[in-house]
Amino acid sequence: MSVAKPLPHDAAPLHVTGQARYVDDIPLPKGALHLAFGMSEEAHGRLLALDLEAVKTAPGVVAVLAAGDLPFANDVSPSPSPEPLLATDTVEYIGQPLFLVIAESHLAARRAARLGLAEIAPLPAILTIDDAIAADSRFEDGPRLYQKGDAARAIAEAERRLEGSLEIGGQEHFYLEGQAAVALPQEGGDMVVHSSTQHPTEIQHKVAEAIGRHMNSVRVEVRRMGGGFGGKESQGNALAVSCAIGARLTGLPCSMRYDRDDDMTITGKRHDFRIDYRVGFDGKGRIAGVEFVQFCRCGWSMDLSLPVADRAMLHADNAYDIPHMRVESHRLKTNTQSATAFRGFGGPQGMLGIERVLDHVAHSVGRDPAEVRTLNFYRDVAVRSAGSGKRFGGAHSPIRAEFETQTTHYGMPVEDFILNGMVERLRETSDYSSRKAAISKWNASNALLKKGISLTPVKFGISFTLTHLNQAGALVHVYQDSSIHLNHGGTEMGQGLFQKVAQVAASRFGVGPERVKITATDTGKVPNTSATAASSGSDLNGMAVQVACDAIRDRLAVFVAERAQADPGSVRFEDNEVHVGSERIPFEKVVLDAYQARVSLSSTGFYATPKVQWDRIKGQGRPFFYFAYGAAVSEVVIDTLTGEYRILRTDILHDCGTSLNPAIDIGQIEGGYVQGAGWLTTEELVWDDKGRLRTHAPSTYKIPACSDRPEVFNAALWDGANREETVYRSKAVGEPPLMLGISAFLALSDAVASCGSGYPALRAPATPEAVLAAVRRVQA
Ligand code: MTE
Ligand code: MOS
Repeated sequence: MSVAKPLPHDAAPLHVTGQARYVDDIPLPKGALHLAFGMSEEAHGRLLALDLEAVKTAPGVVAVLAAGDLPFANDVSPSPSPEPLLATDTVEYIGQPLFLVIAESHLAARRAARLGLAEIAPLPAILTIDDAIAADSRFEDGPRLYQKGDAARAIAEAERRLEGSLEIGGQEHFYLEGQAAVALPQEGGDMVVHSSTQHPTEIQHKVAEAIGRHMNSVRVEVRRMGGGFGGKESQGNALAVSCAIGARLTGLPCSMRYDRDDDMTITGKRHDFRIDYRVGFDGKGRIAGVEFVQFCRCGWSMDLSLPVADRAMLHADNAYDIPHMRVESHRLKTNTQSATAFRGFGGPQGMLGIERVLDHVAHSVGRDPAEVRTLNFYRDVAVRSAGSGKRFGGAHSPIRAEFETQTTHYGMPVEDFILNGMVERLRETSDYSSRKAAISKWNASNALLKKGISLTPVKFGISFTLTHLNQAGALVHVYQDSSIHLNHGGTEMGQGLFQKVAQVAASRFGVGPERVKITATDTGKVPNTSATAASSGSDLNGMAVQVACDAIRDRLAVFVAERAQADPGSVRFEDNEVHVGSERIPFEKVVLDAYQARVSLSSTGFYATPKVQWDRIKGQGRPFFYFAYGAAVSEVVIDTLTGEYRILRTDILHDCGTSLNPAIDIGQIEGGYVQGAGWLTTEELVWDDKGRLRTHAPSTYKIPACSDRPEVFNAALWDGANREETVYRSKAVGEPPLMLGISAFLALSDAVASCGSGYPALRAPATPEAVLAAVRRVQA
């Protein structure tokens, strides 16, 4: 069977030979035009006038449009709150598009865009979390509150108490392929759009509104993205809509791509947070109650900020059964880029909050943080693998009776917890205890270099929290030569979704994956799709494809069974053959015969995730179908004179259920860890006091390089099946491993702690400067 085989990414040879086609590689028809935005230089103000004369007369310029020139909707918002494509009477951040230049070349468009003169009467700019709190500048009327029990009382009555505050920086997506779109005008005003997007249906919807058409006039195609990481869920709307407007106006193909600096200046990033906490606990570190206040900097437009902030609240417990908990969330509006989806979607920030609390508590009771974590874990629940009846969870893990409920702070039963067993195994395979002891010894005899180690868990909720998005469609054709054409609503951004889903299709027909043609995502083939996001791509599209394939397979089974006078239920599809009675017929022959007998060889498939239902205002119910788990141990060394550091070794044990493709899953785990560690260490976004982003290129914004990966890097898969009925009992893997990077951050904290007696209270990102400052603090 093709499923579970560690096959390489289907496009790997194309990626490495430069033949993989991205949007900007699509050959443009003659006469194609190129677009660029003129941008605001002011963070907040009244837009009094735009002088575009010099732009219009610049070489190669065909047309220049301001907000008033747009034919229909001036809106690229993915949320209920409007978000203008081009500023109207106010400007809201430095980098906001003010006007659109249409020119004969990319360079001509960009050069001309610099010549616009905007007269802006400045208004006070709200840039930071503190500014926004002071001005009460927010989305939604007031803070959201999720709670369980009475945290204030539990803290007041606890043996010990602590409080603190944690700054968490944002993160630039740094997809290698920048935002890009092409619009090709068709007869009668219809439009075909190629977009580097995770959300083709949203592009179709926004383009239709912008050109005054119904969605059936617009077809959006996406073969692949060169990375998305959440940054292409909504941020591609502006380019696709602009291209379509330009194409409608000129009747010519229009293309737009942001240069890296423009991309970083215009588009949203991960939300930065401040999390204030209070915790009550006993002398062993068992937590009685926690209160969090999460301040979330959303930027100028609502975008996806509400569900991002919700997910931060939903992950404030991470892996811990905390009896009393209160989470208050403030969604702050600022005059900066509109913070958006980024791998983990708020989950990482929420999770870092509780991991900081555990680290702080352990430091205060003088115990190994790994032990304090385990002490506070939810209890493991017995998990059976599909069919085999085999039990998973380490031999000594406290297996809990299935129906004794333990619930999160939002009232969801935790029915699939496995981290006790996983962490026990990881402690063994990573040699945690003896390395911890060796590090103490090493630190005692080394004055300038100090080592640190940390083991952190991940429990990540899988499903879109906007419940209706948990649906997917597929379209499968079997041609008369028995080749298979596969299409579904998911998009490929490097994560290997297409290969995994092709393996599902091949397995359903019992044929090799080479028979399955992976095709571009296309709104004309599968409609009303959700973004490929929330790690749900393979769960949703894999199931929809399974349903479509099974419909065709069942028709073939009925057809051959009838001829052989056998029971259709007894027909099997294996090894490129169809088994019926004692006969084995080549798959090719069955397909050709079925075609000639006028059997339909094409089907759609549809899937909707079961069981999910919750109230996001009250914060009660079951937002997630299941949880994905993981744990990591990171060891670091710091230089106490400069604050510089290295990750020496990382060991990961991660849960993908029954993996659809272990090679791709390990790739997601390694990549996720490195991206998470980058977020919390070297990746620092800096805005000046005018609100200008100063880190808008790789020269000033440091993502991890190959040489920054851990010197020893062991990633392994946990061998349990998903308890829920997902496609082949697999689990989503796209986002959860990012949060394994928290172990690198807390290993740095551990190394700093060894320099003195105070708690380091590191801020994130822990750049070398931040590490050095923390070393000085604990030494003082
Ligand atoms: N992996 C690669 N190589 N490139 C990406 O852009 N995006 C991540 C993750 N892994 C991403 C990636 C994000 S944010 C999500 S939500 C998932 O992949 C989306 O794909 P999936 O649902 O198929 O896992
Ligand atoms: Mo991922 S942040 O859900 O696109």
